[in-house]
Amino acid sequence: MDKPELLVMGVLPDWDLAPMAERYTLRLLYEAPDPEAFLAAHAAAIRGIVTKGEIGASAALMQRLPRLGIVACYGVGIDAIDKGWCAARGIPVTNTPDVLTEDVADMAFALLLAAAREIPRADAWVRGGAWTCEGSMPLTTRVWGKRLGIVGLGRIGQAVARRAEGFGMEIAYSGRAPKGHLPYRHYPTPAALAPHVDILLCTAMGGPTTEGLIDRAAFEALRPGAIFVNVSRGSCLDEAALLEALRSGRIARAGLDVFHNEPAIDPAFLDFPNVVLAPHAASGTVETRKAMGRLMQDNLDAFFAGRPLPTEVR
Ligand code: 8YV
Repeated sequence: MDKPELLVMGVLPDWDLAPMAERYTLRLLYEAPDPEAFLAAHAAAIRGIVTKGEIGASAALMQRLPRLGIVACYGVGIDAIDKGWCAARGIPVTNTPDVLTEDVADMAFALLLAAAREIPRADAWVRGGAWTCEGSMPLTTRVWGKRLGIVGLGRIGQAVARRAEGFGMEIAYSGRAPKGHLPYRHYPTPAALAPHVDILLCTAMGGPTTEGLIDRAAFEALRPGAIFVNVSRGSCLDEAALLEALRSGRIARAGLDVFHNEPAIDPAFLDFPNVVLAPHAASGTVETRKAMGRLMQDNLDAFFAGRPLPTEVR
């Protein structure tokens, strides 16, 4: 029997591609020198899309694939996939929840600690010889015991909160509805949460419901000297307002893994020595990426075998 053809939107590790190639014919769109010609050649036979959180799948692309049966996302966030288009045609969308939660929470804390304790500067201080010439590095600021505000207390937000408990932090959050089973203080919006925290950390999901959620009012409500961390989506905030808050010093330090317009981010971010930058890498450990790849393949295999999908997005 012919192997089902899959359109692969972005680079995947060989440890996924090699086993997948045994069961599927893989059409690697990201390697095509002329994507238009590539699509014209293969669109009619494509039965599934394999994509990533940051790449997604647009209606414009999907409507060119008459045999499309499934969209499998290598990532938890499906905000860049036109889910409404899929739902209207009964095309399931799957993602990779849970397996990446703890790594993304680790990265949130890594960025928080790196920004507060100035780890990049400390590293440069030693390597560049400042330690021997100038002596000790200037003092930094503490993380433990501070007031942490989490925007979006979903799976990842709760994993951040568990870590923050170990740091003796006072935890509050914003979200549409209070989560009564959790012992943290709820505020309805980031702007309502901001005056009560020293650190604002975003783990909200992306998509239209959270577009610009952390707005100018939220940044302006922070106390001067606050720390800001984002490991969710750039779209969750007003980026111009964030840059203004960095310029004014209202935000004294930041750790950012996600941006508008990745990877060609606003170069203004590069000018801030007090901002630690990461290339959308929060789920990027070997262990987690292997688990994400396995789960994505489990969904594809289940679909083509007619079995229930392990993690279909409802
Ligand atoms: C990316 C993510 O998908 O899970 C998500 O929503 O954004 C990330 O895990 C990952 O970088 C794979 O491309």
